Amino acid sequence: ALYNQTSEEVIIIAHRGASAYYPENTMPAFKAAVEMGAEMIELDVMMSKDGVPIVFHDSTLYSHTNGEGLVKDYTLEELKKLDAGSWFSDEFAGTRIPTLDEVLGFAAGKIAVNIEIKSEAVSDKVEGGVVEKSLELVSKHNMKEHVLFSSFDYLALEQLHRLKADVMVAMLFDDRQLARKLPHKLIKPLHATAFNCHFRELSRRWLKDLQEYNIPHFIYTVNNARKMKRLINSGVTGIFTNRPDVLVEVAQ
Ligand code: G3P
Ligand code: MG
Repeated sequence: ALYNQTSEEVIIIAHRGASAYYPENTMPAFKAAVEMGAEMIELDVMMSKDGVPIVFHDSTLYSHTNGEGLVKDYTLEELKKLDAGSWFSDEFAGTRIPTLDEVLGFAAGKIAVNIEIKSEAVSDKVEGGVVEKSLELVSKHNMKEHVLFSSFDYLALEQLHRLKADVMVAMLFDDRQLARKLPHKLIKPLHATAFNCHFRELSRRWLKDLQEYNIPHFIYTVNNARKMKRLINSGVTGIFTNRPDVLVEVAQ
């Protein structure tokens, strides 16, 4: 279902775009990911004060913009005035925080998108909440077959199920206490069809289970070529990297 994907090959996912070389979660980072040959971009979704899904990782503005305070306290218009590039390098001064609408518009027809819903953006509201609004944008851009939704917040996964989303949904694993359980058991109550975890969490036992049950699994965030090679050899579905150019090279 992904653009440009040949079935046996590892799916190359540009984590927050080509974020080793460009300011993360910005248009330059996403454009570079396409140019480098990635098959999917990963992005994080937060909400502005006026309820617009925007592409940003942190709950606060300090480290990746010239603003301060919480993202959710600013309207889209206010967020759009911030500089989301200078923290990375002067070369990117004036780069703006993109909306999810803008990034999907760019990606449609070019590259698949992993929409990671950040916990801070999730409310109890099903209608008009971040999950429903993101889904609407995916439909607007005809991207249903080319997106992977994921979240560490399982309420978001539950909402996707309630909304009959009809998209691929991954559980993002980060609860050590659940590590004894097998992925096929973990995803079931969440109605997820895929499983994403950190490379250090992926045990042999888990890998075997994921492959036995044919569960697509996407492993983050791997920037080292040798580690990439090892994961490719063990047959993982996809790898998140800040250096998609390196993964393209290693995957050949
Ligand atoms: O979705 C994979 C990865 O992005 C999860 O962690 O903090 O980089 O969003 P984080
Ligand atoms: Mg993320």
